[in-house]
Amino acid sequence: MAATVSFQLNGRAVAPEADGDTPLLFLLRNQFGLKATRFGCGNEDCGACVVDIDGHARHACTTPLVALAGAQVTTAEGLPAHPIGAALLAAFAQEHAGQCGYCLSGILMAAFALLRANPAPNRASIVAALDGHLCRCGAHGGILRAVERAAASLAAATP
Ligand code: FES
Ligand code: FES
Repeated sequence: MAATVSFQLNGRAVAPEADGDTPLLFLLRNQFGLKATRFGCGNEDCGACVVDIDGHARHACTTPLVALAGAQVTTAEGLPAHPIGAALLAAFAQEHAGQCGYCLSGILMAAFALLRANPAPNRASIVAALDGHLCRCGAHGGILRAVERAAASLAAATP
C-alpha cells in the first residue's frame, strides 16, 4: 500500500511517497539519487547497505519505508558535515583503507555509529562492530587502523 512517510535524511526533512514495504536502500538510490549506499545481498549478510538510523547501524536493504517515521537517517553522503564522519573520511584516506571501495560506505556508517556511542573503542570493539561487513578485497587491516586513527584524532581534538 502506498505511504507518505516523513523523516530526516542527512539533516534535511523528506517525505517520500512509495509502497510502504519499499526498502530504504531503493529510496536512497532511486528516489533521492544517493548512490553511496550499496546493494550487495539484500539479506543482511554483507553490510554494504548499512546506514545510521537514530544512532544505530541499520541495514537499508531490509528497512521498509513505513519504519522510518520521524527517524534521523544518515548516509555516507552526510558524513562530511559531522565531526565524527569527517574524521573517519580523513582517517580512511590516510590509511589507504579499502581497494575497490564497494564495502566502504557500509563500513564507514557502522564505524560512525560505533564512534557516536563509544568514542574510545578498543580493537575488539571495532572488530565486533564491523563483524557483519564483508570485504572481498581483504582490506580489513587498513580499515581497522583507520577507525582507530579516527578515534585518536577525535580524542586529540577534544579539549
Ligand atoms: S545489501 Fe544489505 S546486508 Fe547486503
Ligand atoms: S575494499 Fe573492495 S570490497 Fe572492501
